[in-house]
Amino acid sequence: MNNVEKLINERNIPSPIDGVKSANDFEKKKEKIKKLICERQFGEMPGNPDHMFVKEGEIYDRFAAGKATKRNLTFKFEMDGNSFSFPAMSVIPKNKKKCPAFVYIDFDGGEANKYMPTEEIVERGFALFSFKYTDVTSDDNDFKKGVAKYLVKSRRKNNAPGKIAIWAWAAMRVMDYVQTLADVIDLDNIAVIGHSRLGKTALLTGAFDTRFKYIISNDSGCCGAALERDKVGERYARISEVFPYWFCPAFNRDVAAKVEMSFDQNFLLSLSVPRHIIIGSAEDDIWADPTSEFLCLASLSPVYSLYKKHGLIHNGEVPKPKTVLSDGDAAYYIREGSHYLSRHDWNTYMDIIENKIK
Ligand code: GCU
Repeated sequence: MNNVEKLINERNIPSPIDGVKSANDFEKKKEKIKKLICERQFGEMPGNPDHMFVKEGEIYDRFAAGKATKRNLTFKFEMDGNSFSFPAMSVIPKNKKKCPAFVYIDFDGGEANKYMPTEEIVERGFALFSFKYTDVTSDDNDFKKGVAKYLVKSRRKNNAPGKIAIWAWAAMRVMDYVQTLADVIDLDNIAVIGHSRLGKTALLTGAFDTRFKYIISNDSGCCGAALERDKVGERYARISEVFPYWFCPAFNRDVAAKVEMSFDQNFLLSLSVPRHIIIGSAEDDIWADPTSEFLCLASLSPVYSLYKKHGLIHNGEVPKPKTVLSDGDAAYYIREGSHYLSRHDWNTYMDIIENKIK
């Protein structure tokens, strides 16, 4: 047993496989895992809208010195007789027949920002679809704002979606739109990506939407890619106290009652297997806990094996900063520095995806 296997064993995490012996059976098991996660952590994933219409507004085809076309988009929905909309943006490079693409769940909005280096992304031949998360629903306990008003009826019931599930739902609607662009987008190579709370959101999106081939979590930490058992930094108790509205009421109730959960974050990640899960950490981000993120991903190797795929390939030790492990179907990367979604992070994710596409 190598050191990584030993460290995983010591965490005593429940296994999502639990006796399942084939990929077919694990596909069935996924339905149970989804139900568990919905009922006990993030809340029920809202269904498809009755009607969605995407308005392509202003088109700017001189973006980045003419290398790409930018469109302002408005997603409009009808649900149970109510209508709602949120703005989004696409930037599609001109120099490629079909581009791989990112659906980026954005903190800040605008055509580029500190976490979203749009020009660098399109220069490398990737298309970018982004929306600002608070345009979908506010990041607070108010379930009357934005789409939450229509998706979460009256009082929040035990399994009602928290805000993370609602942002994930919006990312899936953006994916619905991307699917209509088969002439310019390589639909087999689409990634969902988010940082921190939106990294948790990206993991939930990928777990429920198999159209995403790459699921990228940057510094997602607690309730994201990091194992809860023996985690350092933020734990379920703290996140549920400070951000109860990210989750379903049942999660907050169980956490407050110190219930031993029948899952750990490996259950969430297992739903994206056998697709490419890419986890990025930062050395100084102890709050998120890089080692717990790494071990969670490494623990999924037996799940990948069911599909005859390689999970994370590593040398049996917890990786040091400046390491990229990308030979397997899952990838892990840790850089020096603190909690942030940097240019270097984006470039590393693009390197990893390019190598998988080859
Ligand atoms: C807080 C929270 C984290 C979250 C982060 C963020 O620090 O405790 O869980 O990931 O905010 O989204 O920036």
